[in-house]
Amino acid sequence: MERFITNMPKTELHLHLEGSLEPEMMFRLAKRNNIELPFPSVEALRDAYNFNNLQEFLDLYYQGADVLQTEQDFYDLTWAYLQRCKAENVMHIEPFFDPQTHTDRGIPFDIPITGILRALEDGQVRLGISYKLIMCFLRHLSEESAFETLRQATPYRNQLTAVGLDSSEKGNPPEKFSRVFEAAREMGLLTVAHAGEEGPAQYIWDALDLLGVSRVDHGVRAIEDPILMQRLIDESIALTVCPLSNLKLCVFRRMEDHNILDMLDRGIKVTVNSDDPAYFGGYVNANYLALEKALGMTKQQAIKLAANSIEFSFASETRKARLLSELQLFARQHQCEL
Ligand code: HPA
Ligand code: ZN
Repeated sequence: MERFITNMPKTELHLHLEGSLEPEMMFRLAKRNNIELPFPSVEALRDAYNFNNLQEFLDLYYQGADVLQTEQDFYDLTWAYLQRCKAENVMHIEPFFDPQTHTDRGIPFDIPITGILRALEDGQVRLGISYKLIMCFLRHLSEESAFETLRQATPYRNQLTAVGLDSSEKGNPPEKFSRVFEAAREMGLLTVAHAGEEGPAQYIWDALDLLGVSRVDHGVRAIEDPILMQRLIDESIALTVCPLSNLKLCVFRRMEDHNILDMLDRGIKVTVNSDDPAYFGGYVNANYLALEKALGMTKQQAIKLAANSIEFSFASETRKARLLSELQLFARQHQCEL
């Protein structure tokens, strides 16, 4: 099964670039930038990656991002992720980045985005990995700060595909950002949002109705609301689910309790993603593999999940057709259907 998952063509639609910062790179960049980390070693840092909830993770995640200082740092971070994608047969990616994590500590807006875009372009040319970049607003910060971030992004309008919403979900409902999302949509950007990870199913309704999202990030708590489930099915709204993340942040107690395959079988357009792989113990293939181990995911289900990851991406229709035909070929070789 491991080889099957590795060879299967797929995309990744829910990945925070800052969450792909491996401890080894964190230490390397800290040294390069003369920053002292509050951990004595890579091992001690890894040992600290035990979280009881989203906030405990976010506290370490924002602290870790402090080592990212220069355009080259953001290039190196993104390039390391792209190489993982190449090794895992991830052929199209839609990574998130959080400009406010950097601008709030005095890094100019242009530094992260130019480093990231330069690496993504190189990945397209040298590795054949297509991309669409998504800029996230931190929902624990103010509406005003989100508006300022959108203003700073204006010169990069054509390099961005969508805006998203991440960080502490509880107490920061979608409605707080309805106006800034409206402004983003008026600029022609698509929208996505984290909703129904720790927050209630109502936040998924609000992400759809107040933020006009094309996809919901996480969304696993939709299962608590049968009317919402029917809407997700009727309107073919994809969920970007992150199994290992959900386990590490205690959204589910055990992987055996995860609802992704149940949702898949009920006709919800779920996809598999890694969220913050450096913190949660695995990239996208490890997430698929965890589903096989704990839930007995079949090859047919894996192919359906990969097909969703292509179909509900923001790639061009030509690119999607190309990726789907590669997946079709792979499926036939394994006596499966698309
Ligand atoms: N949820 C909310 N915010 C985040 C996450 C997440 O899983 N990862 C990085 N920022
Ligand atoms: Zn996320």
